[in-house]
Amino acid sequence: MPASGTVPLPLEITAVVKTFGKGPTQVRALDGIDLKITAGEFVAIMGASGSGKSTLLHAMVGLTDVDSGAVRVEGKDLSTMSDSALTRFRRERIGLVFQAFNLIPVLTAEDNVKLPAIRRDGLDAKVDHLFRRLGIHDRRHHKPDALSGGEQQRVAIARALVADPAIVLADEPTGSLNSVNGQDLCRLLRELCKDDGRTIAIVTHEPTVAMWADRVIVLKDGKVLTEFPVPAEHDPERLARDYQHALLGASAS
Ligand SMILES: Nc1ncnc2c1ncn2[C@@H]1O[C@H](COP(=O)(O)OP(=O)(O)OP(=O)(O)O)[C@@H](O)[C@H]1O
Ligand SMILES: [Mg+2]
Repeated sequence: MPASGTVPLPLEITAVVKTFGKGPTQVRALDGIDLKITAGEFVAIMGASGSGKSTLLHAMVGLTDVDSGAVRVEGKDLSTMSDSALTRFRRERIGLVFQAFNLIPVLTAEDNVKLPAIRRDGLDAKVDHLFRRLGIHDRRHHKPDALSGGEQQRVAIARALVADPAIVLADEPTGSLNSVNGQDLCRLLRELCKDDGRTIAIVTHEPTVAMWADRVIVLKDGKVLTEFPVPAEHDPERLARDYQHALLGASAS
């Protein structure tokens, strides 16, 4: 906590640069990103393929070291934390859903979900509730290779939520879901945010998903191109138009 006693922001990214490779093939995946996300906010990160969305999400949780700039999560500068402190911090405070689901193939769906919270009280009831809420209760004893892509995605989401994280970060969490399941997940994320006060940032390409957020941040070539608030009526067509305007405005300039 800062000395002033003010509550630190859940996420604060300052002038972050991340490059991959060297010489002529070098890619500036993040090119001076500044970004603040406030407590209880639901943010959607959009942008073309390769614009840096996944790299940004990984940098936000210290899974990718940045070349310069600072990533602060709940006021902590991740670059100052040891690997073990960072791992513990992530486990206690952050729920992460990767673009690739990263489920452990030898474990059942249920055991995959329990893994990050193995010693928690009330774990069985919590896991039971999550599997029912996500519509995969009948699949809980299956291993990942016996699950569809959408079912695996929902297992990964249950795993991210099992330890009641204050911050939930998800990379295209609806990418493998049909539209009914996708909308249901969006409603769940919104409840987690608006009812429970969690802070949520998701990467998505879909206006029907982004429309549930409070704010859209648009990335282009590793930079924040623009951002705009999502109108309260949650209208996907309006959001799609605002997003297109953001992208076209950039190409015109
Ligand atoms: N490990 C890596 N090594 C080299 N280049 C990388 C690596 N990871 C990402 N990149 C490059 O950095 C840029 C940003 O990649 P990133 O995965 O963040 O994009 P994205 O916006 O998530 O794209 P998508 O929508 O396709 O998932 C791309 O040009 C990508 O090729
Ligand atoms: Mg990505």
